[in-house]
Amino acid sequence: MKAWVITNYGGPEVLELMDIEKPKCKDGKLLVKIHYAALNPYDFKIRDGFAKWMTGKKFPKVLGGDFMGEIVESNAKKSQFNTGQLVYGFANIFMREQGSLAEFTMISPKYVRPLPDNIDSINASAITSAGLTAISGIEKCKPLSDKVVLVNGATGGIGHLATQIFVEQGCDVTAVCSTKNIKVAESLGVSKVIDYKNEEVLSKDTMYDIIYDAAAKLNFKKAKKQLNKNGIYCTTEEGFTAVKSLIWSKFILNKKMCISNFKGKTTEFIKLESLVSKKGVNPIVSNYSFSQVDKAFKTLEEGSFNGKLVIKVLEQ
Ligand SMILES: NC(=O)c1ccc[n+]([C@@H]2O[C@H](COP(=O)([O-])OP(=O)(O)OC[C@H]3O[C@@H](n4cnc5c(N)ncnc54)[C@H](OP(=O)(O)O)[C@@H]3O)[C@@H](O)[C@H]2O)c1
Repeated sequence: MKAWVITNYGGPEVLELMDIEKPKCKDGKLLVKIHYAALNPYDFKIRDGFAKWMTGKKFPKVLGGDFMGEIVESNAKKSQFNTGQLVYGFANIFMREQGSLAEFTMISPKYVRPLPDNIDSINASAITSAGLTAISGIEKCKPLSDKVVLVNGATGGIGHLATQIFVEQGCDVTAVCSTKNIKVAESLGVSKVIDYKNEEVLSKDTMYDIIYDAAAKLNFKKAKKQLNKNGIYCTTEEGFTAVKSLIWSKFILNKKMCISNFKGKTTEFIKLESLVSKKGVNPIVSNYSFSQVDKAFKTLEEGSFNGKLVIKVLEQ
C-alpha cells in the first residue's frame, strides 16, 4: 500500500511517499481503509523528532493522526465496531500506532467513533484533534453564557472551532488573528477582531472573563491583568512550561488558569458531534490530494492557511 513515511527524524526532506506492507489486523485492533486524513502541527513536530522518546526509533514511520475511513477488518471483539462501518477519529501515533497518511491503518478502537449520519466525511476527518482539544479547555471555563471571551489564534485549527463553540454558547467573543485572516475571523460570528500584527492583543482598557489562548502565544502572567474577577486563562500550551505556570497560578486569588489538552474522552467526542451536527460548528477546510501531502506539510509549517488541511486519501 502507499503511505507517507519518514525513515529518520528531520526536516521536510525526510517525508516520502513509499510502498509499504499493508498492516495485518492484530488482536484487539481495527484495520481501517482511510478515506480522508487531516494534518495538525504535531505531524511536523513528530517528523522533526520532538517527541522521539514517545514515538520511538522504529522506521519507516507513517505520519498522520486524524482520519475518516471504513473498517475493513475488526479484531476488537469487545468493541462496537464491525466490518464495513464508516468511522472517524485519531490514530495514536504518539503511542506508536501507525499513522493515518496511508491507504490503510491498523489502530486500537480507543479514539475511534462511528461516523454520525449528519456529519460529512471531510468534516469528520478534520475535527478530532483540534475539536477535542478545544472542548477539553472550554469545559473547564464553564459556565459560558454571556461571558466576554478573547480567543487568541482564532482562525487556526483549534482556534476556529473554539471561537465557534464560544459564540454558539452565547459568549461575546473577540477574535485575535493576523491581517490576512481578518475576513475569516469575522465570518465566525465574533463581535470584534484584533489583528495581532498591528495591534496590542491585551490592551489595558479591555477586560475579559475568559482568555482562550489557542495559539499558545500568551501566558498567565500577562493574561491575568486583563481578566475580570474569577476570570480564566486557558491555553493549549503543553509540557513543563505550562505545568510550571499552572502551579504558579494557584497562588493568585480570583484568577485561574487551565490547560486545554487533548484527552479523547468519549463524552468529549459526543459533545463535539452534537456541536458539529446540530449547532452549526463547522471546520473550515482546505483540500489536498494524497500526492500533495508534502505541499500540505509546507503550508502547515508556514502557517499560510486557516482552519484545517484535509488530505483525500481514497481516490474514487
Ligand atoms: N494541549 C494539547 O493537547 C494540544 C493539542 C493539539 C495542539 N496543541 C497546540 O496548540 C497550538 C495550536 O494548534 P492548532 O492546531 O490550532 O495550530 P494551527 O492550525 O497551526 O493554528 C495556529 C494559529 O496560531 C495563530 N498565531 C500564530 N502566531 C500568533 C501570535 N503571535 N499571536 C496570536 N496568534 C498567533 C495563527 O494565526 P495566523 O495564521 O493568523 O498568524 C494560527 O491561527 C499548537 O501550538 C499545538 O502544538 C496542543
